[in-house]
Amino acid sequence: MEVYLVGGAVRDELLGRPVRERDWVVVGATPEEMVEQGFRPVGRDFPVFLHPESGEEYALARTERKTARGYRGFKVHATPDVTLEQDLLRRDLTVNAMARDSAGRLIDPYNGRRDIEDRVLRHVSPAFVEDPVRVLRVGRFSAMLTALGFTIAPDTRELMREMVASGELDALVPERVWQETRRSLETGRPDVFFSVLRDCGALACVFPELDRLFDAPAGLDGNTGPGAGAGALMLAAVREAARLTPQARIRFAALAHGVGRGASLPGREAGDEAGAQVIADMSARLRIPNDYRDLAMLAARFHADCIRAAGLDAEGLLETLEGLDAFRRPERFGEFLVACEAILQADAGHADHTGPAILDRARAAASSVRPAGELAGKDIGKRLRDDRLRALVGVAGASQPK
Ligand code: CTP
Repeated sequence: MEVYLVGGAVRDELLGRPVRERDWVVVGATPEEMVEQGFRPVGRDFPVFLHPESGEEYALARTERKTARGYRGFKVHATPDVTLEQDLLRRDLTVNAMARDSAGRLIDPYNGRRDIEDRVLRHVSPAFVEDPVRVLRVGRFSAMLTALGFTIAPDTRELMREMVASGELDALVPERVWQETRRSLETGRPDVFFSVLRDCGALACVFPELDRLFDAPAGLDGNTGPGAGAGALMLAAVREAARLTPQARIRFAALAHGVGRGASLPGREAGDEAGAQVIADMSARLRIPNDYRDLAMLAARFHADCIRAAGLDAEGLLETLEGLDAFRRPERFGEFLVACEAILQADAGHADHTGPAILDRARAAASSVRPAGELAGKDIGKRLRDDRLRALVGVAGASQPK
């Protein structure tokens, strides 16, 4: 039997990127022979094994044929006569369809190396359409590789559009949508993931609440640059967030902060509350983790207050801090401020960028207050609030409490 290194490891090594994990293909072996050699079988849908020492994945070379919609609708063929070339042919992109043999030689029947040199993401064969996750993967690889100059081949773009138009993406399960989205949020250009999905029509299928923003005006407070729609602002916000922080949760909050602009409720407060509700619904549908959901909901509800913090009085500042649960959750509050910073930088309409710093100072001032010892029960609460209000008077823009 022959063993080949395949997939992302071969691609990343040629790109000079760090190799995350190594996948192997075995040609000319049966499952029984693999087990005899000490490999542990793990595949449910196709024969894949874990190496007894390295724990890396070794899959028997296989062909796949789509027989029905959805994940289980594949007929897998993995006998010892399946060749490496046949296995590489069923893969998504040419840059992912190269192999290295045990002597280190590159095996590249579909010209992946040329596409790496030309910086092109190109499907290997028409079988690309058999797996709807690939539309999301192309978005993710675009986000990951755009800095190196990669673009999507026109034919591949066309194929992605056709997949969307034929309803293929309805078969996507929430876990895969979120997995690709989260991994895209961790790349240098998460905005590119969302614009690739928008471009082929997939955004409307997987994130209709984000897609709607491309038809909505940017600012409910009228505070945005000319011509910038809410969709463009969303992309700019997640791009800025990626510059400011590696934390995917904050990037997601910056992305989603304005979803209320696509909701139909009029008025700023209503828009922000509607936005929080949209995020709650979207998170439930896609099983987005609670910490992502909660930070994004805070960003939707309070980013406008943060941005205009210079104009808030002590009462307004305290209400905002209380709404953000800033006294009990200072770390999350810090993440919220970074999301607001990204939103400010994304929006050319805002001249005043002092909001996040003012709110941060306000939290520091108000949390230095300690309740007096001799009061009990609800008196303590009232006294604490009064003391906090007094402490906030000193913070920029805050006026005397009444
Ligand atoms: N693959 C595919 N279609 C998919 C998923 C994976 O063709 N929907 C193939 C590709 O050849 C890919 C390989 O399986 O290179 C391994 O997949 P995976 O580990 O998910 O991704 P990588 O390409 O290794 O990329 P990453 O660095 O993101 O893990």
